[in-house]
Amino acid sequence: MTHSPLYIGLMSGTSLDGVDGVLTPFDADPVAAHIPFPDELRRELLSLQAPSDNEIHREALAANRIATLYADCVRELLDKAGLTASEVTAIGAHGQTIRHQPALGYTRQIINPALLAELTGIDVIADFRSRDIAAGGQGAPLVPAFHQAVFGSDKAVRVIANIGGIGNISILRPGGSVIGYDTGPGNLLMDGWVHRHKGLPYDRNGDWAASGTPLPALLDRLLQEPYLALPAPKSTGRDLFHADWLASRLDGFEAAPAADVQATLAAFTARTIAAGVLRDAPNAEAVYVCGGGALNGHLMTTLQGALPMPVLNTDELGIAPMHVEAIAFAWLAMRFCQRLSGNLPAVTGARGGRVLGALYPA
Ligand SMILES: Nc1ncnc2c1ncn2[C@@H]1O[C@H](COP(=O)(O)OP(=O)(O)O)[C@@H](O)[C@H]1O
Ligand SMILES: [Mg+2]
Repeated sequence: MTHSPLYIGLMSGTSLDGVDGVLTPFDADPVAAHIPFPDELRRELLSLQAPSDNEIHREALAANRIATLYADCVRELLDKAGLTASEVTAIGAHGQTIRHQPALGYTRQIINPALLAELTGIDVIADFRSRDIAAGGQGAPLVPAFHQAVFGSDKAVRVIANIGGIGNISILRPGGSVIGYDTGPGNLLMDGWVHRHKGLPYDRNGDWAASGTPLPALLDRLLQEPYLALPAPKSTGRDLFHADWLASRLDGFEAAPAADVQATLAAFTARTIAAGVLRDAPNAEAVYVCGGGALNGHLMTTLQGALPMPVLNTDELGIAPMHVEAIAFAWLAMRFCQRLSGNLPAVTGARGGRVLGALYPA
């Protein structure tokens, strides 16, 4: 390939669907691979999101499993690219968030980075979020700096909406100023509901949601969630938006068709993202969606219905929606190797720019 340094980014997000891996370039479609999580690991990771028995032991075992799957992903990337480990400068490994409590001073992205370094023979950078929290920040979202670097325009305001398990937006202004925060649920409530009623991991293309009719009273109730009205900086996760969050709001809707609830959840995700765009970027040229939500046709149509500007996906800007977040962690690994800051204090609320991550040498 090229003579410029090569990086690998590995990301597994709140959807718990698996690990997305990429091997640079940063500004165009890279070599990519996806390894789904086995069902029983997904169940264990879901269970580790909340207090339960023997957590330290179970977390350690799950972190080893994740390192092993991340290593499988690295092997697939190297095979596809025809490269050897020694040609890669570093891996940026996000790990799996099982708790995110910035107000209490911690966040946990589990992975055994020592094992990943051992299995791959490549330098591993991990634990990207802790330093930002130590500096008074939210530790999230971390993708806006990367969005600015590759998607920013000097002519127009652009919004990048990353719809993973959680939704987050980056508002990129000409001149380089950036606003970014978690808007609320992305796919995770819809994933949970379709799993409960149909045993499926997600609602393909949003077809089931599209077959239902949103319930206005339920939508209003969901929109009362105080997180939505908080000013930025803010970030959230499964700590707040879990199955019980939804269950406690379904009182009185027991008889409603399950498809109507799914339609309401899709409308809720779209409304919360649209609210952020309308408040902070009403003059944006377009909203560019990335993450798995970009593959949900019904969600994209609903979001377009709530916004005056075009809703597109990041293919328009040269990177496939499912690759963006993993590339961001390859980019953050590069920033670490160059000892450059990876956070945007205006986004996370940290006291200043910080070099993010910790190195586990090959
Ligand atoms: N074809 C599709 N139709 C609808 N939703 C999809 C599709 N493909 C992926 N998704 C959604 O995207 C999610 C994965 O998105 P991803 O960006 O990986 O999120 P995360 O970063 O939280 O893991 C899945 O859980 C699912 O909800
Ligand atoms: Mg994912």
